[in-house]
Amino acid sequence: MVSGENKFALVLSRNSSMNTEDHEVVFHLRDEIGIIKPELHGHFLEHLGSATYGGIWVGKDPSIPNINGIRKQAVEYLKELGVSVLRWPGGCFADDYHWRDGIGPQGNRPRRVNIWWGNCIEDNGFGTHEFMELCTLLNAQPYLAGNVGSGSPREFRDWIEYCNQGSGSTLSDERRTNGALEPFRVKYWGVGNESWACGGHMTPEEYAALYVRFATYLRAYDGLDPYLIAVGPEGNNQAWSNRFFAALHNRQFPLLPNGFAMHYYSWGQSTSISYTIETLQDQLATFASMEKAIQEQRAILDRHSQEDGKNCHIDLLVDEWGTWDIANPQNEEEHGRLWQQNTMKDALAAALGMNVFHRNADSLSMCNLAQLTNVLQTPLITQGHHCVRTPTYYAFKMCGLHKGNMSFQVERNTDETCFSVSASRSEESVAITLVNTKHNASMNVRCIFHKARLNRAVATLLHHSDFNACNTFEHPDVITPQHHPTAIDDAGCAVHMPPLSIVTINARVLQQDE
Ligand code: AHR
Repeated sequence: MVSGENKFALVLSRNSSMNTEDHEVVFHLRDEIGIIKPELHGHFLEHLGSATYGGIWVGKDPSIPNINGIRKQAVEYLKELGVSVLRWPGGCFADDYHWRDGIGPQGNRPRRVNIWWGNCIEDNGFGTHEFMELCTLLNAQPYLAGNVGSGSPREFRDWIEYCNQGSGSTLSDERRTNGALEPFRVKYWGVGNESWACGGHMTPEEYAALYVRFATYLRAYDGLDPYLIAVGPEGNNQAWSNRFFAALHNRQFPLLPNGFAMHYYSWGQSTSISYTIETLQDQLATFASMEKAIQEQRAILDRHSQEDGKNCHIDLLVDEWGTWDIANPQNEEEHGRLWQQNTMKDALAAALGMNVFHRNADSLSMCNLAQLTNVLQTPLITQGHHCVRTPTYYAFKMCGLHKGNMSFQVERNTDETCFSVSASRSEESVAITLVNTKHNASMNVRCIFHKARLNRAVATLLHHSDFNACNTFEHPDVITPQHHPTAIDDAGCAVHMPPLSIVTINARVLQQDE
């Protein structure tokens, strides 16, 4: 039998031509943080560039396999990924979207100019019913962003009634005539989007006044209370949050929002495939700032919900996040607005973001990556009949191990910012995500389990030595997850991490000591 040390020697390698760091992480399974709600791994789809039209929605184009107009390959990949919740139709687009444009017979729907994203003409082929069909295919919860910027409370409340009233009203009958006999029962409703910018350029006080006016009319149908999500800050803008809640308080509105959604983008200083070591580390450093922003915004919400004497809980969401590189005009010309190639750098970013959400699972209720296809940090890129899984797709898939688990504390022997960890457990197994963002150092990682023993550990690796490497339409499998060696002993397990890598470990817990 091979001894523990020898087994580790087999997996922990040291290369003379490269710096190898040693990291030790202690996992405290009993030191719980909070449940990693599946919604923390949520997504976002906008009418923007080729995200919806040409990406998810291919219409009745017979040359691209589809399910009632929805790209079949995308559905298959996304089902495999697991989309817990999907936000739609924007983004900026939401505040110029009138939901009635997207219902009824396809041929009768108006053609509209998308004023936010290049003035392109949209035929409204993808509307509420098509979105709901997509959610059903993906088993995703729908999250609809309502129009506050250019819409009315009446229009918004009617959309809720159309979706959620079972029968008996004119609007529910219209939905039934349009093919949906059963109500959609949509729980999540966003009351506007980025009201501080494209959603109306409002002050927090102006938005609070509108929020109250709209929320007064956004009601329960058939016993389902809408879960209302107010527009939160850009990044960690604390003035927006404090002033919004102070203004709500002054209006003595009895109902605080269920959720408050911040947006946190990780801006980059290069175009997608021309990052340098400096711009790479710069962009990846934004995830530490995002973690701080989440904690500070959480504290603001806690303070305001107590202050109002209502002692209620306001959920915090990050309903847009992800990398935002400098746009490449040629890419945008070819593939639509905000198209950016997705690289190994983005996979690292995805895993860093997930680690932040897992470590702050008690503070967060939903997070939505921007966006689902072809826009910003996307899991899928499409062109004609091609549909390619990006490195971000695989990072999400690997991190999916944590969904629904209890996140717990980890203790590390270094505070090296280029090494990121999160851990969680279910009844019998433990999920770990490790990220090495260094381009010039590998890492030997010892995982020690406090008061628990393992009897099996399976590791998966996502890695490429070039952070600008990507999966293309010609070469779709440049970056894919690989089985990775790991060894266990009585104390825990060990893995070797090459530079620029993500390793997930799924370990079975044999025994937990008292
Ligand atoms: O995701 C792209 C855009 O970013 C969204 O439309 C907007 O909400 C944000 O500024």
